[in-house]
Amino acid sequence: MNAVAQEHSAQEDVIQVRDLVNRFGTQAVHEHLDLDVRRGEILGVVGGSGTGKSVLLRTIVGLRRPTSGQVQVFGQDLLRLPPEQRSRIERRFGVLFQNGALFSSQNVVENIAMPLIEHAGLKRPEAEALGTVKLALAGLPPGTEHKYPSELSGGMVKRAALARALALDPEVLFLDEPTAGLDPISAAAFDQLILTLRDALGLTVFLVTHDLDTLYTICDRVAVLSQKKVLACDRLDVVAQNEDPWVQSYFHGPRGRAALDAAEQTREVK
Ligand SMILES: Nc1ncnc2c1ncn2[C@@H]1O[C@H](COP(=O)(O)OP(=O)(O)OP(=O)(O)O)[C@@H](O)[C@H]1O
Ligand SMILES: [Mg+2]
Repeated sequence: MNAVAQEHSAQEDVIQVRDLVNRFGTQAVHEHLDLDVRRGEILGVVGGSGTGKSVLLRTIVGLRRPTSGQVQVFGQDLLRLPPEQRSRIERRFGVLFQNGALFSSQNVVENIAMPLIEHAGLKRPEAEALGTVKLALAGLPPGTEHKYPSELSGGMVKRAALARALALDPEVLFLDEPTAGLDPISAAAFDQLILTLRDALGLTVFLVTHDLDTLYTICDRVAVLSQKKVLACDRLDVVAQNEDPWVQSYFHGPRGRAALDAAEQTREVK
């Protein structure tokens, strides 16, 4: 066994996707897609718009039954488990969806308390007290808990949605475009928060993003969705060498080069 294989066998895959097919009518989104997510890593998932990143996320967390294929999470095939066992596993996930941020009719702490009441069986006062702690963990100042989503900035909504995703102390955090629409400074701060949470809580992070700076600064590995499958999944410098046209224009186009330069400069300063 070579060093790379040895290193991999020592690492546990928390998610294994094998031979996954997802079709909508005649449209094939995924064909024979394979992916492993390792415990403790931040995996960046990239690909052009419409390549099926969000569909992949929804399939892994059990919200969509694939056309065929296997999804194993913590060594269990979610699709074959009885509902009760399946929901016990699903509670070990925290998800920040691309569009579904917060319920507008509830204030911030009520939003975060909801999964604690529904899934952990806490009473409302306890759930709201714990929700306030999660808000602080997500970097929101005291007083935010009583605001309504419409009273928050875009960055604050993302942090509140992150607090909700963290409500049940998940082991795996799924984030779908968490920094989309944020200014570069807020996006960089959000990236650092994800890194800190991963290091402090030992989370595994599945992070769908278009943000090249995010890929360069916090991701351990990058999976590229192209041609209906995961074309490459490796360290960024390895993936960037792939000859796929989308990979070439994404990593070696003007924005890709600028992000690389910025990442290298930051490293030099450190
Ligand atoms: N429920 C659905 N019914 C029919 N088609 C769907 C459904 N959900 C997704 N699709 C299609 O699957 C394809 C992949 O969608 P998906 O949302 O996963 O793309 P994405 O990679 O997340 O794109 P983006 O970067 O724009 O978020 C798209 O063509 C989309 O129209
Ligand atoms: Mg998407």
